[in-house]
Amino acid sequence: MSDVRELAATVGRAVLAPSLHNSQPWRFVVADEAVEVWLDARRGLPVADPGFRAARMACGAAVFNLRLAIPVELGRQPDTTVLPEYGRRDLIARLRPGPVRPATPRERELYASIRRRHTNRYPFRDDVPVDRGQRAALRAAAYGEGCWLDMVTDPARRDALAELSRRAERLLAADPAYREELRRWARDNPADGVPPGAAGPRPEPYDPLGQRDYGGPDRHAGREYEREPLLAVLGGPGDSPASQVAAGQALQRILLTAAGHGLAVALYSQPFDIPDVHAQVRALMGRLGTPYLLLRIGYPTRPAPSTPRRPVSQITRILGQRTGSGVSN
Ligand SMILES: Cc1cc2nc3c(=O)[nH]c(=O)nc-3n(C[C@H](O)[C@H](O)[C@H](O)COP(=O)(O)O)c2cc1C
Repeated sequence: MSDVRELAATVGRAVLAPSLHNSQPWRFVVADEAVEVWLDARRGLPVADPGFRAARMACGAAVFNLRLAIPVELGRQPDTTVLPEYGRRDLIARLRPGPVRPATPRERELYASIRRRHTNRYPFRDDVPVDRGQRAALRAAAYGEGCWLDMVTDPARRDALAELSRRAERLLAADPAYREELRRWARDNPADGVPPGAAGPRPEPYDPLGQRDYGGPDRHAGREYEREPLLAVLGGPGDSPASQVAAGQALQRILLTAAGHGLAVALYSQPFDIPDVHAQVRALMGRLGTPYLLLRIGYPTRPAPSTPRRPVSQITRILGQRTGSGVSN
């Protein structure tokens, strides 16, 4: 039996997961010897993410952190069920500490990277490539969660992908509702949003990938983006809620693996926010299934600062034993 407070403590790692605009679209319930991850629809992004795809991916990334925290902090097998209750779509996952078992060395490594990982929107180094072994490790991280990660190294395909990303950003930026939503999350707030320090340099018209404009410092001359960025597309078998949660777990496994190798990652979801552009990315990748996210991967030229999180106590309900269908404390 796990102590309910020990189980609740694992939420501290879950909330370090990434989320679009740092919206943190989750809440947690600790009950019945299990921790539940719920999608908090009130924190959705109606313009950028009307179908909650990015929100479910963020929740999936939080689930992955819990899958590491349960063995590392509690020494127990994390028995995980995604979308455990038919008809309760906001209940993303239930993780029950199972039999006693020590964390594996790999789990410990990934767990240690949870705190170190930050989205890095700065230019990456051009002089040190991401080597074949690292690329293979990142691909394996995606496959391990039933998804795929394709590195786009052919220059023509890379340019086509970058152009689709820029086009998506231009289309979004032309929508006043989108700009207003972005403005509300691009802020210096102690609990959420993307503060100017974490935003990376301001995008300019020639920005190679159409980075989202969260504000941030002006770009200085000589701080150009890498000439040959390593781009990768994360995709999975489908676009159902379960697939989106799987994609979030794959994303977090990739990001923690990258952090363990000293690599930085920037994320671009605009091409997937516009159905027409999304379809073109799917055609370009030539893969069955759905692409979810564009990643730029490399060695950082400077570290990315951390972003804030809401206090765990505000978003976690601790319940006692459930009796029958009711809940008692
Ligand atoms: C599904 C998803 C989509 C994202 N899309 C973007 C994006 O388009 N542009 C961007 O700069 N960051 C993007 N991010 C990164 C978030 O802004 C970042 O995770 C959040 O600000 C928290 O910061 P952290 O990752 O450093 O903890 C995305 C994150 C997720 C999970």
